Amino acid sequence: DLNRLSGDIQLIVDGKRLDGRGFDELRPINIKVGVLKRADGSCYLEMGKNKVVAAVYGPREVHPRHLADPVKAVVRYRYSMAPFSVEERKRPGPDRRSIEISKVSREAIEAVVMKELFPRSGIDVFVEVLQADAGTRTACLNAASVALVDAGVPMRGLISSVAVAKVDDILVLDPMKEEDNYGQADIPFAFFIRNDKIESIALLQMDGRVSRDEFKQALEMAKKGAMEIYQMQKEAIKAKYMIESEEVNSDE
Ligand code: CDP
Repeated sequence: DLNRLSGDIQLIVDGKRLDGRGFDELRPINIKVGVLKRADGSCYLEMGKNKVVAAVYGPREVHPRHLADPVKAVVRYRYSMAPFSVEERKRPGPDRRSIEISKVSREAIEAVVMKELFPRSGIDVFVEVLQADAGTRTACLNAASVALVDAGVPMRGLISSVAVAKVDDILVLDPMKEEDNYGQADIPFAFFIRNDKIESIALLQMDGRVSRDEFKQALEMAKKGAMEIYQMQKEAIKAKYMIESEEVNSDE
């Protein structure tokens, strides 16, 4: 958060975070797959008080046509915040922050989408933040990657994303708003995970300052958190397709 406030707010009280979580504990996550009828794939995701929805269209014809690539699909990613998603009304439309988030998130998603299978076509990912409480880019990436699977887009793996913050000289996983705003550093990560194994880092950003050792610790913490998210993403996808196959069976 660029509006980081340096203040004397105490974020760790009696060895506990303000919301009672342990240092390496994620916020509760809730994932629903296939929530939008008109999208090819979609996902609603809550990560603590964040509420986001992702919609995927494609692979489909690219408009305008000249943007098409003759050897692979073009991936587009639009991150957007609803005016009512934050405390002070967010002016609708793109701003510098959402353009930056869209760019780095698209690059993360491009690591897993098998673009080479769809020359001349486009895959569009729209993510909408309905309620924000820090870590919206990570929540949106988690939702987008499930929505891509729901759309049937061939993927090398999943993107699982979570941030680590430094607050009161302590590293904490998945910071919420107070920790993000008043902390000393914020480091969002996204990983490309395949077959329960972290293959690579697909996104890494940082503001604030940490030591080399702290960074190593933060990376380990983020990897563990991302693996937990990855399992929940897989469960959500499985849950949807189990229900569908039951419906098919009961039609017989
Ligand atoms: O959401 P994320 O942590 O990925 O991005 P950020 O730029 O670090 O923003 C942190 C938080 O600040 C957001 O999740 C929102 O809760 C809040 N924010 C806000 O209140 N108004 C904005 N225009 C932008 C962000």
